[in-house]
Amino acid sequence: MLKGKSLIEPMDLSLEELNEILCLADEIIENPTAYADACKGKILATLFYEPSTRTRLSFEAAMLRLGGNVMGFSSADTSSATKGESVADTIRTIACYADIVAMRHPKEGAPLVAAMKSNIPVINAGDGGHQHPTQTLSDLLTIKTLKGKLNDFTIGICGDLKFGRTVHSLIKALSRYENIKFILISPEELRVPEYIREEILIKKAIDYLEVERLEDIIQELDVLYMTRVQKERFFNEADYIRLKDSYILDSSKLEKAKEDMIIMHPLPRVNEISVEVDNDPRAAYFRQTKCGMYVRMALIMKLLGVE
Ligand code: NCD
Repeated sequence: MLKGKSLIEPMDLSLEELNEILCLADEIIENPTAYADACKGKILATLFYEPSTRTRLSFEAAMLRLGGNVMGFSSADTSSATKGESVADTIRTIACYADIVAMRHPKEGAPLVAAMKSNIPVINAGDGGHQHPTQTLSDLLTIKTLKGKLNDFTIGICGDLKFGRTVHSLIKALSRYENIKFILISPEELRVPEYIREEILIKKAIDYLEVERLEDIIQELDVLYMTRVQKERFFNEADYIRLKDSYILDSSKLEKAKEDMIIMHPLPRVNEISVEVDNDPRAAYFRQTKCGMYVRMALIMKLLGVE
């Protein structure tokens, strides 16, 4: 039963619950009008202490398309955080007004603290460089829709694997499916954090490889997941400038890739995918954005317990 639960990281969902959400998202895509009043009278609060375009607006669009209402703030500057209010106090207040909360926060663990203090479901919409479980739901729905399965494939994840929270959540979620091989492509300084390597990849004996050059392995991939170098998490601007253009996917690099490989990116992109790639039939990142809204509709319905 998902009703009343919070979603802080991918492992909060059992595989069965995850599949329920993905199936409901498929049904919503098939027949969106059937769900137009599913959340009538319910309120979603979006508490965004960090900038966002897609995630916040897709949560809001999801709730509006379910017939519900939304309220919230889109930066810490416009909330009582500037007066020194704690996340714990803010959530207790919001829980008096809303039925469900989506929270993004620069501090890792802030949505977990909120969930512990809240009597309504809290969804982590990204906490620092830690986790981003609803982006992962969008990613899984995209892969399932375009590849027809969530097992037996090789995925290359490229870019900032250290600070990229979408990467951490995706690896965790995919680690539960059969026969997935990960090729992790990053500069030495931006490799996946130790806890992902030790507690997920090594502990679960998952087939993985860490490499620095995309060109050398692109032909092996069924899915290529590109990511942005996370400027806002760097301590030092010189390091960011040195690393920011480590990978630029363009048409020439794609020549060696499989015909049916899909190219994903959580967006926003900076330079890591050249715009000429947008017209390649393998480019899936805008479809991925659309999946994000539908899967959030399904998630909100499940956590609120409306059918
Ligand atoms: C990602 C995020 O916020 O972590 N964006 C998103 O939610 N779609 C990725 C990023 O900012 O690079």
